[in-house]
Amino acid sequence: MNTIELGKTSIQVSEVALGCMRMDKLNISDASAVLEASREAGINFYDHADIYGKGESEKRFASAIKETSIKREDIIIQSKTGIRSGFYDFSKEHITKSVDGILERLDTDYIDVLLLHRPDALVEPEEVAEAFDQLHASGKVKQFGVSNHSPNQIELLKKYVDQDIVANQLQLSVMHTGMIDAGVQVNTKNDASIDHDRAILDYCRLNDITVQPWSPVQGPDGVFLNHSNYTDINDTLKSLAEKYDTDHEALAIAWLLRHPAQMQVVLGTMTPDRIKNYASASGIKMSREDWYTIYRGAGNPLP
Ligand SMILES: NC(=O)c1ccc[n+]([C@@H]2O[C@H](COP(=O)([O-])OP(=O)(O)OC[C@H]3O[C@@H](n4cnc5c(N)ncnc54)[C@H](OP(=O)(O)O)[C@@H]3O)[C@@H](O)[C@H]2O)c1
Repeated sequence: MNTIELGKTSIQVSEVALGCMRMDKLNISDASAVLEASREAGINFYDHADIYGKGESEKRFASAIKETSIKREDIIIQSKTGIRSGFYDFSKEHITKSVDGILERLDTDYIDVLLLHRPDALVEPEEVAEAFDQLHASGKVKQFGVSNHSPNQIELLKKYVDQDIVANQLQLSVMHTGMIDAGVQVNTKNDASIDHDRAILDYCRLNDITVQPWSPVQGPDGVFLNHSNYTDINDTLKSLAEKYDTDHEALAIAWLLRHPAQMQVVLGTMTPDRIKNYASASGIKMSREDWYTIYRGAGNPLP
């Protein structure tokens, strides 16, 4: 498993991470098997949010890890805050209270990374700064980042927040490429040139913010792999898989890892064999031409 530096830190993280959003659906024994499989595959990074399974995913993770030989200091745990029932809340009170809940459910003294989950329209960055200072000074949170944020939303935070923003978790898969399309189509009149993401990919690269693609195997109709609505992309991936001594499923992850932004892909599968297969995408050296073939196979004509 290749590692990358998280943001501007010297922390080495596996370029494939395991998202634990769906862990609440597993019993403790199956969750332990998932964690063991991920570690065997070289994953050292686990993504959570306070809301996953209404907190149950974090609890299940904490119980399951006790059944394994995994040591807290050998892994990096990230969680998110800011989404509440029917509204978003980046107030100091909510952020600090939410982190206390996260620590209790994860049964740990600290989390390595805290992300602001989705932009709060009513964000008061001074409050975020106070919350981050308090959490950092107490040792409860080591690093801070965001999710689903635009460049200017990050700039607004940076005006007040002292800590570096190390990561931005964003939806990206072969079948959800808006942030790439807008760059490829710049200055054309094609619909794909409409930039819904405000050049976020360039911004993260310019500012050494690690992009963490979420939902890496989903398209608009759910999982695109082996789905009859997505024959073109499946056929394209299959046509190239043998060349890379892999299968079309792992190649979909390798496509994300090929991007020079040095992304950290957040897997969502809770199936041990799939975790191992997707993790094996790390190390595949995809050619530039094949990257574009897959991009076009996903229905993206070049201008
Ligand atoms: N920041 C955000 O706003 C945000 C939003 C959503 C998610 N996330 C994070 O990103 C992580 C990944 O998101 P995600 O779960 O949507 O990602 P995903 O990996 O694209 O999707 C996972 C789902 O796809 C299924 N799946 C995977 N490979 C499959 C295959 N080959 N055939 C059939 N089904 C397959 C999995 O089922 P099995 O488990 O049965 O294999 C699981 O239900 C989450 O766990 C969470 O940590 C963040």
